Amino acid sequence: MGVGHPRGEPESRGDQLGRVVDPPGFPGRVVHCAGQLPALPEQQPLILNTGTRRHRTNATQRPPREPSRIQRLGHVVLETRAFLRALNWYLDTLGMIVSDFLFLDGQRDRGPTMAFIRCDQGSTPVDHHTLALHLGPGTGYVHSAYQVTDLDSIAAGGEYLAERGYRRSWGIGRHIQGSQLFDYWRDPDRFMLEHFADGDLFSRDLEPGWAPMSASGLAQWGPPVTRDFLGANPSPAKLREVVTALRGDNELDPARLLGLMKAMSS
Ligand SMILES: [Fe+2]
Repeated sequence: MGVGHPRGEPESRGDQLGRVVDPPGFPGRVVHCAGQLPALPEQQPLILNTGTRRHRTNATQRPPREPSRIQRLGHVVLETRAFLRALNWYLDTLGMIVSDFLFLDGQRDRGPTMAFIRCDQGSTPVDHHTLALHLGPGTGYVHSAYQVTDLDSIAAGGEYLAERGYRRSWGIGRHIQGSQLFDYWRDPDRFMLEHFADGDLFSRDLEPGWAPMSASGLAQWGPPVTRDFLGANPSPAKLREVVTALRGDNELDPARLLGLMKAMSS
């Protein structure tokens, strides 16, 4: 897909198969067999003492107070009014497979309204999701997530961002779908980004999970999910978006909108 390498390397290292546009209109670029780049310098995982497992003795723990060193782009989340059409396009066109579906409480028979999808690399385990799509009144980017070494790197990196005008949107916690340790931030332009570590890796063999969508169901532990993270802060622009979505020919209707609002507060 048309996501550049974190260091801005061109995608010309693989075969360019062409430019594509998915049903909601997000442009992409398909690249086959992109070459492997040398690994970025990364923070070393800490040696942890865990109860009776004493891995570090006669040595202190001094995690560096430094910005998180990004290992790679992990996933992107998009919101769309054409959720099922978009999902089927990614499954049919790029051969992606579903890790988890979320549905609205009481509306499971109408199908899912969110899907976490992964690349199909057969028996090779891959990220639980490279892309997540959810139904909503908006259209576009929600957040992108960058892998860092571990929990200490997430926390120290967060302090660095806070000192430089970034605002924490939600975190630190551990997700349910994908299991990642997460920390969400908004940059000074309000773009949301996520630092994550320790996510699930699935091969092709696992079947999709199904769960009801709820705000409290987004994390195993962590602070309560914020309205900022959910994009639920009321504003004239948000209201216009909802009205436009309900009037248009798309998958959002009053019952689904009510279901989404209920999910955000449950
Ligand atoms: Fe995420």
